[in-house]
Amino acid sequence: MDDARSKQMKLYHRVDRVFNELKAIGMGDDDPIPVEQLCNYDQYHYFGTDAIDEAIALLGITADSQVLEVGSGIGGPSRYLAHRQGCKVTALEIQPDVDATGRALTHRCGLDDRVDHRCGDMLDGIGSTGIYDVIVSWLAFLHIPDRDTLYRRCFESLRPGGQMLVEDYFERGTLSEREQLILARDIWCDRVPTMTDYRVELSNAGFENIELTDMTTSWLSFVMDRFQGFRAASERNRVVHGDAIVDGLHGFYEAVVNLFQDGNLGGIRFTVSKPK
Ligand SMILES: C[S@@+](CC[C@H](N)C(=O)[O-])C[C@H]1O[C@@H](n2cnc3c(N)ncnc32)[C@H](O)[C@@H]1O
Repeated sequence: MDDARSKQMKLYHRVDRVFNELKAIGMGDDDPIPVEQLCNYDQYHYFGTDAIDEAIALLGITADSQVLEVGSGIGGPSRYLAHRQGCKVTALEIQPDVDATGRALTHRCGLDDRVDHRCGDMLDGIGSTGIYDVIVSWLAFLHIPDRDTLYRRCFESLRPGGQMLVEDYFERGTLSEREQLILARDIWCDRVPTMTDYRVELSNAGFENIELTDMTTSWLSFVMDRFQGFRAASERNRVVHGDAIVDGLHGFYEAVVNLFQDGNLGGIRFTVSKPK
């Protein structure tokens, strides 16, 4: 993995900033952390735990489900799933510092027995085939241009009849060269498939029951609110995190707003299943 490229995306630079937030609410370095409280700071996708609640309902995730989260970040969705439903979750994350932060947080939440953090690339597979009831992924596939290999890995990891839910980007209008450059440079995203690409590539991988939902309208309002909220709290954020982190995140949040506002970048949720 090219570390310099992933860190150019400022969301992934200094992910240990989550500990600044915990300190700011008065938590000591080794204090246990209630998951509900941590959820305010550890979700790197849109609509936080509401999006995960929707996934739970759509996929029927229960305490008996074996779940794989692809691109788990600092572990927010995986911990919430394990805490809320009591299921076992494998949290796969490619960036070592991001994975390490996730492990430390999971330990402090007392969820070591339910969330199994693994550091690796989904393109290399997860090492076990046919065992997962459910695969979930929020805003991670956009970093992985080789969808054929990615979908093949997901397909082989699922048990027959298993389901996958993914939230990600799609090309809604034709992305300009400038937009593609911003996506590649600031968002570590080299390819944005169209809705048709999704349907064809998922079908070629063997998936069925392919449902694609356009999320763009609600995501645009989410990213605008996120940017405005961040700007409004700038003074407080500079005290908590320092200038470098705040300036980096400001640029990142703004770039995402501009891309969605221009109308060529869209948000998609898809669900598919592996034949029984
Ligand atoms: C936007 S974050 C989302 C994290 C988490 N899903 C969440 O919503 O809080 C996407 C994550 O996917 C990870 N990722 C990117 N490519 C990956 C790959 N090939 N295998 C595993 N993880 C990957 C990134 O390092 C990043 O931490």
